[in-house]
Amino acid sequence: MRTISFQSLITGGAISLSLTFGLAACQHEPIVGPVDPGGGNGGGGGGTNCDPNTVYFQQQVLPILISNCAVPGCHNTATDDNDWIQITNYNSLMNSGIVQNGDLMEAITESNPNDLMPPPPQAPLTASQIALINTWIQQGAQNNSCASSVCDTLNVTYSGSIVPLIQQRCLGCHSGGSPQGGINLSTWSAVNAVAADGRLGRSVTHDPTGIPMPPSSPIMPTCEVRTFMIWIDAGAPNN
Ligand code: HEC
Repeated sequence: MRTISFQSLITGGAISLSLTFGLAACQHEPIVGPVDPGGGNGGGGGGTNCDPNTVYFQQQVLPILISNCAVPGCHNTATDDNDWIQITNYNSLMNSGIVQNGDLMEAITESNPNDLMPPPPQAPLTASQIALINTWIQQGAQNNSCASSVCDTLNVTYSGSIVPLIQQRCLGCHSGGSPQGGINLSTWSAVNAVAADGRLGRSVTHDPTGIPMPPSSPIMPTCEVRTFMIWIDAGAPNN
């Protein structure tokens, strides 16, 4: 510990080196190039490098919840219709009490389709999403955060950078038979189309002339927004 901070003082290289290792451990694949720990969080404070044995609320759990539960008309606001359960950030989730009383796990693993969340025809959560949420609860349901797991602004490609971001933050709403806004972002041609007409850029930068995405949640970490913009500025290629 002391050696690392001492080296960090001597050479900035040590900082990026340790971050690179931390991120690689988190994502199970090597990441090179500049990272942005300062902006690398979904509103939860960046902080420590990602430990592969820890599930992080801001990076892993919240995007699943935003995409699948904070859908407009569902849990994006607290109303009588949804039992006053709002699932847009850590505080609203914990205030609803559904983590503590077991209702969250019960709802997402329910075998009766009438009680299952998200309700059909929305797709249920995948087994790996359910496992992540379960592990996060077992680990104490903390509002924890680590240096962003999906961010490399040096080598931005559609398949390597944009697809993972869209999977993590957008597909819960923008896929399937009746995607939100009529926009299915699961193919390159669809993403390319909203990039080309300017809507994607305005949405991800929360430009006042566009519609902020993801909705009902803070703007994505700076580095992720930058990743989108680098790809869009390069012509949104299918690479
Ligand atoms: C919680 C659900 C949800 C999530 C998550 C979400 N969107 Fe949307 N998106 C919508 C809805 C609803 C609309 C339609 C909004 C409207 O027309 O008022 C929309 C519209 C859009 C539009 C069209 C905006 C316009 O100006 O017409 C774009 C582009 C878009 N989303 C991109 C994204 C991207 C990129 C992400 C992930 C970073 C994302 N969305 C995440 C619900 C979502």
